[in-house]
Amino acid sequence: MAQRAREQWGSGFGFLMAAIGSAVGLGNMWRFSYLAAEHGGAAFVILYVLMIFLVGFPVLLAELAIGRGAARGPVQALGFYGGRWWKALGALFVGAGFLIASYYSVIAGWTLRYTLEGIALGFAADPAAHFAEVSTGYDALVWHLLFMAGSLWIVANGITFGIERTASLVMPLLFLVVCGLAVYASTLPGSEGGYRYYLNSDDYASIFSREVLAEAAGQAFFSLSLGMGAMLTYASYLKRTTNLPAQAVIVSLADFAIAFVAGLVVFPLLFALGLQEEVGASTLGALFITLPKAFVGLGIGGRIVGSLFFAALVVGALTSLISLLEVVVASTVDIVGWDRRRSTIWTGIAAALFGVPAALSLDALDVMDQVATNFFLMGGGLALALFTGWVMREPEVEVAAGAGRYRWLRLWIQALRYAVPLILAFIMIGTVPKTIAAISALFE
Ligand code: PHE
Repeated sequence: MAQRAREQWGSGFGFLMAAIGSAVGLGNMWRFSYLAAEHGGAAFVILYVLMIFLVGFPVLLAELAIGRGAARGPVQALGFYGGRWWKALGALFVGAGFLIASYYSVIAGWTLRYTLEGIALGFAADPAAHFAEVSTGYDALVWHLLFMAGSLWIVANGITFGIERTASLVMPLLFLVVCGLAVYASTLPGSEGGYRYYLNSDDYASIFSREVLAEAAGQAFFSLSLGMGAMLTYASYLKRTTNLPAQAVIVSLADFAIAFVAGLVVFPLLFALGLQEEVGASTLGALFITLPKAFVGLGIGGRIVGSLFFAALVVGALTSLISLLEVVVASTVDIVGWDRRRSTIWTGIAAALFGVPAALSLDALDVMDQVATNFFLMGGGLALALFTGWVMREPEVEVAAGAGRYRWLRLWIQALRYAVPLILAFIMIGTVPKTIAAISALFE
């Protein structure tokens, strides 16, 4: 099949920053910490690393191989390798990107507000009341729309000029800031308790529950941006000389590193200020309440540190939201045939509107997040593993371009055929009924 002219990344570094930018986001600094807090600290961290290796990495490599090989968005890429019925899976991916983008932008809006507030006014004296006031309703809506508009503007500017340039500029800064904050947190008296909690669990038994396993696997997918074609779409702008396994290794390591270091900021900080009881009772909004509490307690230094922390969240969220939108935009360009600008504007308006319920109700937001992770990302990952393992002809040939033939690629295919689907199916048997129950509770 002839390939038409398609934009390509300007440099290998640019692709890496964009891909890491997609992976590193609210998932690393907000979702990871609150899940680790909820599920016993270190035990969860270990399980999470295991899930990255066992299911995350194989699926990531599959997405990169399919995207680059087909050089088009998920719908057409899956059609290209699997025939037209598989386009339905691609369409599911685009739907997932749309869904996640819509509520992700609401949380991103909170982070933007917190950053600017921290700089201009300082953090509110009563963070719980403040969060209750600004997390839903008119305020949340306005910041959601602002954040969405900014991200769309970058996507409208295209791959190299918009996405690559932004990511190459802000991602190195994000690394620096997060590492700097971890060093700062280590200097606080009383921080040892945080390390103990985070790095040395006394509840390793919880590893063996399906629920924690499910959270860890879901988090691996969410954090690596897998199961909905974001990595696939980014890879579709890659040259055939790129070494895909090397990219996959770097992206997963960088993603884990940032999540891990973010934990080295959050836990010592909370323990140093005696806020640990609130860690255990962690929920969706916890970080936006307990962390500002800590920042207020630290005086002017806390205000600087807090603003930097939320600024890092803004950057992470921005580069992730861009990748979510790019999936939808690239597919609209490919399928509908509109140009990039027009596709961006219309998909953006639609996603912004779809996010309105999330801006009006925390329960709606929570359910959207559960549906996205438990149905779409895990289901998408499961289907994609089966597709690559059983349907696609010689996926290892696509990986070998630019990398050489590795013997372990056989092992990769075996993982996609058996290990990944089995683990994910086992997990989904537990999560799917729970998610359905959560949806029906929302409409009661
Ligand atoms: N990986 C992003 C994060 O950790 C979220 C995301 C999910 C982005 C799926 C793209 C696709 O915040």
